[in-house]
Amino acid sequence: MPSRRELVRRVALGAAVATALCAGALAWSSTLLGEYSVMDMGAGTPEAAGHAGHAHGVAGGTGAAAPSGALDPGAAVDVTSLTADPDRPADVRVELVARQEGFDVPGGRHVEGYTVNGTSPGPEVRATQGDLVEVTFVNESVTDGATLHWHGIDVPNAADGVAGITQDAVPVGGRHVYRFVAEDAGTYWYHSHQVSHAQVLGGLLGAIVIDPAESPEVRTDVDVTALLHVYGGQHSLNGRIGDERVEARPGETVRVRVINGDQGTAAVWSSAPYRVLAIDGRDVHAPGEVRDQRLLIPAGGRADVAVRAPADGSALRLHVGGARSVVLVDSAHPEASAPPARQPKDKLDLLAYGTPAALDFDPTARDRTFEYVIGRRFGVIDGRPGNFWTINGRMFPDVPMFHVREGDVVAMRIENRSGDVHPMHLHGHHVVVLSRDGVATSGSPWIVDSLDVHPGEAYEIGFVADNPGIWSDHCHTLPHAVDGLVAHVMYEGVTTGFTIDGAAGNRPE
Ligand code: C2O
Ligand code: CU
Repeated sequence: MPSRRELVRRVALGAAVATALCAGALAWSSTLLGEYSVMDMGAGTPEAAGHAGHAHGVAGGTGAAAPSGALDPGAAVDVTSLTADPDRPADVRVELVARQEGFDVPGGRHVEGYTVNGTSPGPEVRATQGDLVEVTFVNESVTDGATLHWHGIDVPNAADGVAGITQDAVPVGGRHVYRFVAEDAGTYWYHSHQVSHAQVLGGLLGAIVIDPAESPEVRTDVDVTALLHVYGGQHSLNGRIGDERVEARPGETVRVRVINGDQGTAAVWSSAPYRVLAIDGRDVHAPGEVRDQRLLIPAGGRADVAVRAPADGSALRLHVGGARSVVLVDSAHPEASAPPARQPKDKLDLLAYGTPAALDFDPTARDRTFEYVIGRRFGVIDGRPGNFWTINGRMFPDVPMFHVREGDVVAMRIENRSGDVHPMHLHGHHVVVLSRDGVATSGSPWIVDSLDVHPGEAYEIGFVADNPGIWSDHCHTLPHAVDGLVAHVMYEGVTTGFTIDGAAGNRPE
């Protein structure tokens, strides 16, 4: 048996060998990134420069791909010029002030995090479709700097709020004005896109709802927001631990706008039938009643769910995200309660929900086809060893830029070979789901900005490149984004002067 001293020596030797190996791996595979521009992503290795690093897509039809680096510099458009009409006065003006501070979660514990106008979530921003919304963002005390991103609203690129791509993080004492036209009615949310894995988790977020300009197809009597967020392990609903009680008269229909601000999928169900009126701010066409099925909402995603208050005046519970519930109560019996319902085994498949309707573009007339294959392997990113996500076999920052030209019809195949679910979120666009594992959609057009792709699944999605800019296309389980699950859709001719990890300290993930 080796002596104790001998064991110590062996352990020390082992550690030395491991350190040497590690240092060797670092030198071999990755120098520190330092300051970089997303414009240079995908060009990290000589191999990448000639191949899929800059993905121009498989040109189909007439949409030939332009060679990389062939842009006319005179025609370059900077992201900061992609704005709403600067001369149009605002219809809705809001000031949102971010602070880094501790706060008590009502019904729960104290947490250290971030507030907007003194609370988390921050105030709900409300506008009407067609309004020009102008938000002045002030960073009072967030030491890493902060931004606001309008999750799901297809804003002009300059208002997208991604630190290091569309702006610099707003330092303490600074401010930034966001302006966009609220073109599409629906349920959205805002959150910081600087050090987002910490700032979003810590509560720098809130809801934004765009009411339709004309009365919607399905009329509802009561409208309530249900924003889910986990504060230090506490599952909250609208910032509180406990049910959200909503008064409704018997027979009235309530629209519950569920916003999944968690890091994982949320399940919605009830003992009574419900209907899914909208997904990610896009109406479902002819949504039928759902019974004994649960609706799953990806992290970052939203669903407007309609429930009817029972005719007999009893209370009704709608589970929104596990134990959290919206409870409808008759104003005549405001103290009434409703028992929890068992979570249905079956899930509602949005691939076949509602009935078909025409799309506003032809996804078969595609100009570009991209692959976004998610994997996982060991490696080193920015000097940090770990088990990282890969995109098309490549590791951040050597991941594809998906190059498009304005007006392109784009198809993308998102395949998950990584063993973990990923809620994939494309900024600035909504995409239509075309198929899952080769099975085409048979219900309503399923239009999303956040899509859960489960292990082993392959989705085909389509969209029109109708919003020029440089757009993040990442996983919304934000710790996954930090670990490399980020790519970008980049329009030909658009450039950014902002950088990541430079003097401005931009760290979008
Ligand atoms: Cu909700 Cu890139 O973000
Ligand atoms: Cu993920």
